[in-house]
Amino acid sequence: MKTQVGIIGGGPSGLLLSQLLHRRGIDSVVLEKHTRAHVLARIRAGVLEQGFADLLRLAGCGDRMDREGEVHEGVNIAHGEDLHRVDLHGLTGGRTVMVYGQTELTRDLYEARDAMGGVVIHEAEDVQPHDLTSDAPYLTYRQGDELHRVECDFVVGADGFHGVSRKSIPADVLTEYEKVYPFGWLGVLSRTEPVAPELIYARHERGFALCSLRSRVLSRYYIQVPLTDRPGDWSDEAFWAELKRRLPSDVGRRLQTGPSIEKSIAPLRSFVAEPMRYGRLFLAGDAAHIVPPTGAKGLNSAGSDIQYLYHALLDHYERGDDSGLDSYSQKALARIWKAQRFSWWMTSMLHVFPDSPAYDRRLQETELDYLFSSEAGLRSLAENYVGLPY
Ligand code: FAD
Ligand code: DHB
Repeated sequence: MKTQVGIIGGGPSGLLLSQLLHRRGIDSVVLEKHTRAHVLARIRAGVLEQGFADLLRLAGCGDRMDREGEVHEGVNIAHGEDLHRVDLHGLTGGRTVMVYGQTELTRDLYEARDAMGGVVIHEAEDVQPHDLTSDAPYLTYRQGDELHRVECDFVVGADGFHGVSRKSIPADVLTEYEKVYPFGWLGVLSRTEPVAPELIYARHERGFALCSLRSRVLSRYYIQVPLTDRPGDWSDEAFWAELKRRLPSDVGRRLQTGPSIEKSIAPLRSFVAEPMRYGRLFLAGDAAHIVPPTGAKGLNSAGSDIQYLYHALLDHYERGDDSGLDSYSQKALARIWKAQRFSWWMTSMLHVFPDSPAYDRRLQETELDYLFSSEAGLRSLAENYVGLPY
């Protein structure tokens, strides 16, 4: 098989890029390791920056998001019994975020790919990129006993943190930066009315908690847990009781509880691999970087990579201009590191770090005190939360 852009990974990054390119007449093949059902069963991000929402619209995939998603003009931060609203809209000159689940937008992208006859090959096993530093790279994969080959001009590694793309860059070319946090997030999805119309990020001496939502009848909640915990250790009753304890009491009293539809634990990690290009391989999304979820920057960081890469590939194919491809890694990383900084800052401010000295805990409290007494502080939080410009 021959194509222009060979994309490894059928998550949001790979699907979005392939959809954007197809609408400009650029051919791609997406190789995804799992089944579509498996990809769509993963409950992940829920908050989209305006730039990401615009990219989905540009891909022709924004209709359902615009109908069913919720535009949020504010977000709340709780500290013990105090609840502060951050007026995102007012502090950023009218910018907002869109609450729309990653599962839903991935479903929309798959449907758009189907409607255009896009090639997404599922259950592609042992995907391997080859000859990345030549002018004629290619991918191989297996389906059952059959070995297939995809010849392409460029390879995009959009295969997430555990994928094969980043690993195919020689170790002496790649620098990896990593920070692992000493806790995880236990997430629960429930068919209950959200406790508040806007998200609440809560710092509490028992640990962090987040109240999020997917719709007026579907809630998503998280609590900080030790890395040693397993989802099975937490009954629904124990989860609700712990969440309630970590919220201001008047919020906790309003909490509607019900059976969990999904319950999982995600470890928290910051990670960046540099550079994001090797020969004709371009890394995008989680394949190159991971953030702890505080601040909702994971999926949105993938979005900025795709925006840069899309324009760089357009310039190559439509104008013979390779400057965008040449500057991709540098440009993407400049924004990525800012999202890393924000996610690290939000995580550091809002979580309980086991065994942290009393001095550090007082500094954390002071960080929040300062934030809520300073319009400059709040504006900085708001401009990062809605997303820095591309
Ligand atoms: P992925 O979504 O990881 O997609 C990569 C795709 O590549 C997958 O479909 C995978 O099956 C496929 N693949 C992997 N290896 C291969 C291979 N060798 N060959 C072919 N295909 C392969 N972000 C937030 O903002 N908020 C959240 O609450 C949040 N929660 C998260 C919870 C978890 C458990 C995880 C893992 C991530 C979470 N994130 C969250 C981050 C966010 O979901 C990611 O940033 C986003 O999914 C990145 O999209 P991606 O397409 O780059 O990678
Ligand atoms: C969600 C997850 C996040 O990490 C976050 O910061 C906000 C919302 C969510 O899953 O809804």
